[in-house]
Amino acid sequence: MTVATFADIFAGIGGFRIALEKAGLQCLYSCEISPECRQVYAQNFGDVPEIDISEVDFEKIPNINIITAGFPCQPFSICGKRKGFADKRGTIFFYICELIKIKQPEVVILENVKHLLHVEKGSNFRVMINALESLNYFVSYQILNAKDFGLPQNRERVFIVASKHKPFDFSQIEPEQNIQILKSFLCDRANFEYLDPSEYTLIENPKKQDSGLIFVGYRNKSIWKTGIRPNTEHLSRVHRQPNRIYSVGGVHPTLPSQESSGRFFIYLPEEDRVRKLTIQECYRIMGFPEHFKRSQSLSESYKQIGNSVATTVVYKLVKAILQQDLLHKSSVQTLPLVSPKQRKLIQLTIPGL
Ligand SMILES: C[S@@+](CC[C@H](N)C(=O)[O-])C[C@H]1O[C@@H](n2cnc3c(N)ncnc32)[C@H](O)[C@@H]1O
Repeated sequence: MTVATFADIFAGIGGFRIALEKAGLQCLYSCEISPECRQVYAQNFGDVPEIDISEVDFEKIPNINIITAGFPCQPFSICGKRKGFADKRGTIFFYICELIKIKQPEVVILENVKHLLHVEKGSNFRVMINALESLNYFVSYQILNAKDFGLPQNRERVFIVASKHKPFDFSQIEPEQNIQILKSFLCDRANFEYLDPSEYTLIENPKKQDSGLIFVGYRNKSIWKTGIRPNTEHLSRVHRQPNRIYSVGGVHPTLPSQESSGRFFIYLPEEDRVRKLTIQECYRIMGFPEHFKRSQSLSESYKQIGNSVATTVVYKLVKAILQQDLLHKSSVQTLPLVSPKQRKLIQLTIPGL
């Protein structure tokens, strides 16, 4: 029996890898440009990803069944210029196309922010879909929300599945019946950072939003009021400040990729207190295992988890890919999960660190 294999491109700290390994697949290759991410990845998975995708010789990558890529979204604005899929100087997305062309995986799983669908009135997204189709893949895509996959986080991301043999059917993915609430994911004990009551205002009659969020109050530090229209201090979207405080009886807003100090605050009704969400809680609401070894830098840890992928969403997606028999050539054997203790620890020599 052959084990299905994958390449983890733009690997970050390995959110995809956690999910695919849990589903019994084996990682044969990874690539990630950030030295800090590579170090965390190596600590957890026992191998150091290759560096910049533009410097990788794709011919040397082993043959794999699946390519996963939560690719960076910044370069899309030049997508529409169609620099050519084989041109290594083109956008990051076209490296994925080139890799697909050379390695011919049976399935490609891509993930990005929901906004990708709307950049330049959707024309960038259409270019990407056309590019995948022109490589002779069926392409399906859907927005999936982490809160429908057992995590208390309203995190919507677009998932694209390109498949060689037949189209992937997203409707076969069963969302969880019960939405989890933040309360069940909190740490019992930690060095909690509570706010002084003078630092926040609670609102009357908070209501649960359709998203599952329950906005209960906002921080009222005077520094954030400078230049801000009165009574709009709590509108984090307007002021790009996560000033809002949410109830632990609902879900958490998306952990953003740009965050480096973790300004996420929650209200605990039993204690009638407001505290910061701990970094461990952030990793939990992304579906990372308890034993995951984070970066020693707290600001890196926040950035890395905000950039990562909700692992439970990917796990369900991969299970559906296997159930729909999209990997024809391999019969998938479920590998036992290797505990962190069993992994061979390697000497870390990370270029750039
Ligand atoms: C959205 S994040 C993906 C995170 C990943 N899915 C995870 O679970 O952590 C995109 C990643 O691509 C990496 N990246 C950006 N440009 C790259 C390049 N030229 N070559 C390799 N990796 C790159 C970034 O450092 C970042 O970690």
